[in-house]
Amino acid sequence: MEAIICTKYGSPEVLKIAAVDKPIPNENEVLVKVNTTAVTASDTIIRALKVPGGHNFPVKQLMKFAMRLFIGINKPNNPILGLVFSGVIESVGKNIKTFNKGDEVFGFTGQSRGAYAEYKRVSDKEIASGEIALKPKNISHEEAAAIIYGGTLVIHFMKAVNITKGQKVLIYGASGSIGTIAVQFAKYAGAEVTGVCSSENGEMVKSLGASKVIDYTRKEAINQLEKYDLIFDAVGKNKSSELKKQSKKSLLRGGNYVSVDDGFLKVRPGYLKKLNDLIANEHIKAVIDKAFSLTEIVEAHRYVDTGHKKGSVVINVLR
Ligand SMILES: NC(=O)c1ccc[n+]([C@@H]2O[C@H](COP(=O)([O-])OP(=O)(O)OC[C@H]3O[C@@H](n4cnc5c(N)ncnc54)[C@H](OP(=O)(O)O)[C@@H]3O)[C@@H](O)[C@H]2O)c1
Repeated sequence: MEAIICTKYGSPEVLKIAAVDKPIPNENEVLVKVNTTAVTASDTIIRALKVPGGHNFPVKQLMKFAMRLFIGINKPNNPILGLVFSGVIESVGKNIKTFNKGDEVFGFTGQSRGAYAEYKRVSDKEIASGEIALKPKNISHEEAAAIIYGGTLVIHFMKAVNITKGQKVLIYGASGSIGTIAVQFAKYAGAEVTGVCSSENGEMVKSLGASKVIDYTRKEAINQLEKYDLIFDAVGKNKSSELKKQSKKSLLRGGNYVSVDDGFLKVRPGYLKKLNDLIANEHIKAVIDKAFSLTEIVEAHRYVDTGHKKGSVVINVLR
């Protein structure tokens, strides 16, 4: 089968297309024929061995070393990157009772990665921990691959804060793959949403449910800050602005500040079911910036590396 191999850590050019063995699933696994994957921030973090979270020397160097021990010393031990997929179950091991051949599914690959490939094995453990689910019927494979990353991260990081009707919520970084879902999620929960993005993305963020938008690139934007019950930093600690620094003073007493870089995502049973329900009931939808083919992976990573994608960048694996 065709797959994208990460030959070493570095710029997008380290990614090469290669012919590799098609995985052979055992009796406790299903085999998914991947239709679409996406280039996520997590993929670029691994490819370039970037330390997330805005740390400085020497913590940054120590974290890089720890990442090498965990992921692979000179290149990822599993060289096929790719964290999310949407596709069709091609075969089912005899001990798997939860899926059938032909089911349309979407999922996370977790630590095993490997979605930048024509086929991906999913184990019974991954099935039990909720990393794969039936794809919502009302969306395409492209939309499913685009929405699963931001959707799952938002469900994970918002579960500690119960957004209630009428609350004021500020989403910092409302135009990225996590931010575009966070805006829709908070709006659905009944909040009055203010999205922070550059002026270019203001109309898009409003169309997703924000009643106000603030342009973080403008100095005077700080005067537009109000008091919020929740501030959700959806772009992470490596991206900041004067507005972001000032916004931390804009919490109401008892309000919450949550960053998408506070801890790591652990997909839990129920997350994809919840995401599926939100999509099926049209409370959230995918925002797709660009679609590439597997052979255009270098170009796709270069684009995501700019840090200015709108929503998600998807990779159509199936030709
Ligand atoms: N904890 C975890 O397990 C976990 C997992 C995955 C990701 N993360 C974190 O989540 C972050 C965001 O991921 P993502 O995929 O949503 O990002 P993304 O889609 O790449 O974000 C791109 C968006 O960020 C906006 N942006 C760029 N610089 C900004 C700034 N200084 N202030 C405000 N907005 C800015 C851009 O808007 P403009 O073009 O308008 O500037 C663009 O629309 C990652 O970088 C990582 O730190 C954490």
